[in-house]
Amino acid sequence: MRRFGTQGPVNPQEHYVVSRSEEIADYIKRVEEGKYVVLFAPRQTGKTTFFQAALETLTVGTVTNTAAIYGEADTKFNYLPIQLNFDVYKNTSVAEFYDNLYQDICEEIENLFQRRDDILPEALSQLLEDTKLTDHHAMRRFFGHLERLLSPQQFVLIIDEFDGIPPSALSDFLHTLRHIYISGKPRCPHSVGIIGVKSIAQLNYDRSISPFNIQDEFHLPNFTLEQVQELLTQYTDEVEQPFVPEVIVSIHKQTAGQPVLVNRFAQILTEELDIPKTESITMTHFSMAYAQILEEDNVNLTHLLTNIRKDRRFENLLMRIMEREDSVVFNIYNDTINELATYGVIKESPNGMCEILNPIYLYRIMKTFKSTA
Ligand SMILES: Nc1ncnc2c1ncn2[C@@H]1O[C@H](COP(=O)(O)OP(=O)(O)O)[C@@H](O)[C@H]1O
Ligand SMILES: [Mg+2]
Repeated sequence: MRRFGTQGPVNPQEHYVVSRSEEIADYIKRVEEGKYVVLFAPRQTGKTTFFQAALETLTVGTVTNTAAIYGEADTKFNYLPIQLNFDVYKNTSVAEFYDNLYQDICEEIENLFQRRDDILPEALSQLLEDTKLTDHHAMRRFFGHLERLLSPQQFVLIIDEFDGIPPSALSDFLHTLRHIYISGKPRCPHSVGIIGVKSIAQLNYDRSISPFNIQDEFHLPNFTLEQVQELLTQYTDEVEQPFVPEVIVSIHKQTAGQPVLVNRFAQILTEELDIPKTESITMTHFSMAYAQILEEDNVNLTHLLTNIRKDRRFENLLMRIMEREDSVVFNIYNDTINELATYGVIKESPNGMCEILNPIYLYRIMKTFKSTA
């Protein structure tokens, strides 16, 4: 039986998962167009899950229309997609960064060929063996060779936890990608996805002009009511225990679709309250789960509280926002607002004002500052 997951990325083998098929289609379209996409969003908003699912779609591959028309049967896979995670590079030197980056790229390419039951072509295997990456120049040349060897397949690079890039490597790395991008097609990487919590502007410690002004911004919204329904229905289909429709609406409303909070609600309701599987999950159960979430220390809420306590300015601003609706304009150039938005505490309301992310956060923030007052 699958479960609702709240620790790290979720996958459809082990967990109930929102497919986000429209968002994936949107991303794949950008890959097709050869965009260099960035997604910066707070922790636990589903970034890794999303890109793993997108990568899977690209890995499985499709036969292109042109292949069908011109009968180029060997163009089975349009893309050679790989995913890296920069979190592990945080404390490395520039030379170590490129050396490990290279080894990770090799491993990912080899794994991909294996997954596709394909044999690594001799020339590619030779290139991987002969290359030594020491700096961004070597990387640029390596990508150039790779492009010629992979053609007509296109290399797609997804970098998760981009914030982990060693600060001393950041500028040259981005300048190189920018150089490759503006050199035109065919290019390698054909498409890059950069995922992180802090935006490139926030990582740019010297506050110089961003070397990455080519980026195409991608947004991953919180779950809609339909997506919460999609998630919970998977459980009901498997276990035959329904949720009363009002429960689904209430979960969506209280979490504002925040992915991990939605799953946490579902976890409490399906695993922790010991509701007999023969009974429907009702509003009485929902109220019990809600009371628990308001008081418990799960990772998401602990992070929230740690973050808002970091700086007295946060308290002042949050108090103002909570005192009166629509009292603070969402000005992203204000450092305090910017930081709280990066942590996922506040967001911009439809009319351009600061708003606490969801009612659960609102309650917890209020309680935190009341007790310290
Ligand atoms: N597509 C999804 N379907 C169901 N739950 C999800 C989905 N994406 C994210 N979640 C929930 O959010 C949590 C964090 O997901 P993750 O992908 O690790 O986020 P991030 O990379 O932004 O930190 C998961 O443990 C799960 O509870
Ligand atoms: Mg992640």
